Amino acid sequence: MDGATRWVKVWDAPTRLFHWSLVALIAGAWFTAENGWIDWHFRCGYAILALLLFRLVWGFVGSDTARFVRFVKSPVAALAHLAHITKREPDTEIGHNAAGGLMVLAMLALILVQVGLGLFSTDGIFTDGPLAYLVGPDLSDRITGWHEFNFNLILAAVVLHVAAILTYAVLKRHDLVRPMVTGLKKLPAGLAAPRMAPLWLALLVFAVAAGGVYAFATLA
Ligand code: HEM
Repeated sequence: MDGATRWVKVWDAPTRLFHWSLVALIAGAWFTAENGWIDWHFRCGYAILALLLFRLVWGFVGSDTARFVRFVKSPVAALAHLAHITKREPDTEIGHNAAGGLMVLAMLALILVQVGLGLFSTDGIFTDGPLAYLVGPDLSDRITGWHEFNFNLILAAVVLHVAAILTYAVLKRHDLVRPMVTGLKKLPAGLAAPRMAPLWLALLVFAVAAGGVYAFATLA
C-alpha cells in the first residue's frame, strides 16, 4: 500500500466472537445430528438462536461495521463491486463490501430459517422439536425434510463464503481473515476509524437474547 498507513480496529470483539462461535456451533450442530446426540444438537441449536438474536439486534445498535444500514447495499452495488474483483488494488474497505454484505444477510437468513425449522422438526421416534406439537406429526415430518434440505443450502453458502475469501486473498492479495480474528486492519492513514459500540451494550444485548432463549428452552 502506498503512502502512510495505520492499524485501525474494524471489527469489534462481539462481532468476532459471534462469527467464530457461530462457525463452531454450526459444526457442532452438524456433528451431533450425524451421531444422534439429539440433546446436544438441541443445545447447539438454542445457542445458535441466541447468537442470531444477538446479531440481529447488534445490527441496529452495534458498532458501525456491524450495522445493517452500513453494509446492506443493492444488488447493483454488489455487481459493481464484483466487476473489479480481479483488479489488484489496496484494501480500503471498512467492514463488509457490497457483495459480502448481501452474502452475510443471506447466511444469517438461512441459519435463522434452519433454527426455526428445527423447532418444529421430529425424528419420528423419540424426540420432537419443542414446537412440533403445534403442527402435528405429518407436517412436522415434512418440516424435518426441509430442515435437512436447508442445511445443504447453508453448506453451499459457507463454501461460497470461504471461496470468496480465498478469491480476495489470491486475486487481490486482501487478507480478510486476520481482521476477523484480531479486529485490526491496515488502512490508509486518511481514512476515519469506524465507531465502536461499548462492550457493556453487547453484554446486555447478549444476556437478554440468551436469557430469552433459555426461558423458551426450559418452558417449551
Ligand atoms: C459455518 C461456517 C461459517 C459461517 C456460517 C460464517 C458466517 C459468517 C457471517 C454471518 C459473517 C458476517 C459477520 C458479521 O458481520 O456478523 C462472516 C464474515 C466473515 N467470515 Fe465467516 N462464516 C463461516 C466460516 C468462515 C471461515 C472458515 C472463515 C475463514 C476462512 C470465515 C471468514 C470470515 C471473514 C474474513 C468474514 C468477514 C468478511 C469481510 O471482511 O467482509 N468464515 N461469516
